[in-house]
Amino acid sequence: MSNPFTPAFGFPPAILAGRDEIITSFLIALNNPGDPYRAVLFSGVRGIGKTALLTKLCEQAQLRGWISVSVLARKDMLKEMMEQLEMKAEEFLPAAKRVRLTGASVSSLGGVTWQNVPSAVKTWRTDLEKLLKVLKRKNIGVLFTIDEVDPKIEDLTYFIGTYQLLIRDGYPLALLMAGLPNKTRSLLNHDSIDFARKALLIKLKPLKVAEVKVLMSDMFAKEGKTIEEAALARLAAASDGYPFLIQMLGYHVFEASKGSEITFEEVEEGIKNAASFIETTVLEATLADLSDKDISFLKAMLKDPEDSLMADIAKRLKVTPSYAHQYKTRLIDQGVIEGAGRGKVTFAMPLLKQLMKEHFDGDSAL
Ligand SMILES: Nc1ncnc2c1ncn2[C@@H]1O[C@H](COP(=O)(O)OP(=O)(O)OP(=O)(O)O)[C@@H](O)[C@H]1O
Ligand SMILES: [Mg+2]
Repeated sequence: MSNPFTPAFGFPPAILAGRDEIITSFLIALNNPGDPYRAVLFSGVRGIGKTALLTKLCEQAQLRGWISVSVLARKDMLKEMMEQLEMKAEEFLPAAKRVRLTGASVSSLGGVTWQNVPSAVKTWRTDLEKLLKVLKRKNIGVLFTIDEVDPKIEDLTYFIGTYQLLIRDGYPLALLMAGLPNKTRSLLNHDSIDFARKALLIKLKPLKVAEVKVLMSDMFAKEGKTIEEAALARLAAASDGYPFLIQMLGYHVFEASKGSEITFEEVEEGIKNAASFIETTVLEATLADLSDKDISFLKAMLKDPEDSLMADIAKRLKVTPSYAHQYKTRLIDQGVIEGAGRGKVTFAMPLLKQLMKEHFDGDSAL
């Protein structure tokens, strides 16, 4: 019996739960060039399932005859896109009609800006258009997905500008981008890429309890196991609906289970066994992204059992309210905390609060 859970970042889950509406809307958009789902920017915290969703949408588009080109926002992404497109287009184009590309290298495209386009980049754009023209004649659409967006990557901002022009010229294209909340926000605020603001911004949320329950029992059922109702409820609650936690907890509960029905005790054991893995992945990954001041802000929040008042945090940190406010904005952008109305903030992921408590105060409890 093999464990069906995949507690690894970027790994496509056996069952992708809770994203049906998005998938359906996207598939409708593939038939309609003017649909807002033709250009989407997904935003969400670590482990919420951005990469898994992009992968699924690519698969679906390919099943419908689209070519998909998938890259990470990195400084050689233009070159990578061209290579993938050439390779995939070849499958569709009879040899005689293959486009003769100039073969110019685009590997040295450092320092590209939209205003100042070096000739290697112009060649890249011309080559791209040559390919797209042939594909368009054959009625083949191209889906671009760009994961881990970062506006500091000039190739990304250049690509977005190019994409806008290609759309204006009527090529059948779609663009899906994904990134952490602070990156998507700074992409939207970037001066030179008007188009990013026209993309549909979708904030990926944790799954609902009911969705988690169905997912968990379906996953166990794949390997012939059932789970007691109370055990399932405990497991769903412990995950908070976060896909990464769902996979991590599910994995350890599966390992802990002996018979064909998973018991409450086995769920408790699995949660306990998962805790240290979760601490090293979720907590350490989050802390690594934060500055010391961000962390002090979070520590100040730990003193409150529920939401924290901004005024109390400022007092505890011995800083002015406006200084505390700056850190609040930063942490909200990073998806770590959320506004809780009327001058209050709360942890975006309750589990993170617990982990931080254990880490900094020596308290326990998952
Ligand atoms: N909708 C879903 N249903 C079930 N499992 C999911 C879902 N989305 C993602 N997962 C699982 O959750 C884990 C994290 O997903 P993924 O790597 O896509 O997150 P991410 O948002 O891209 O994270 P990061 O910001 O670190 O790149 C993976 O193990 C994946 O298989
Ligand atoms: Mg990812």
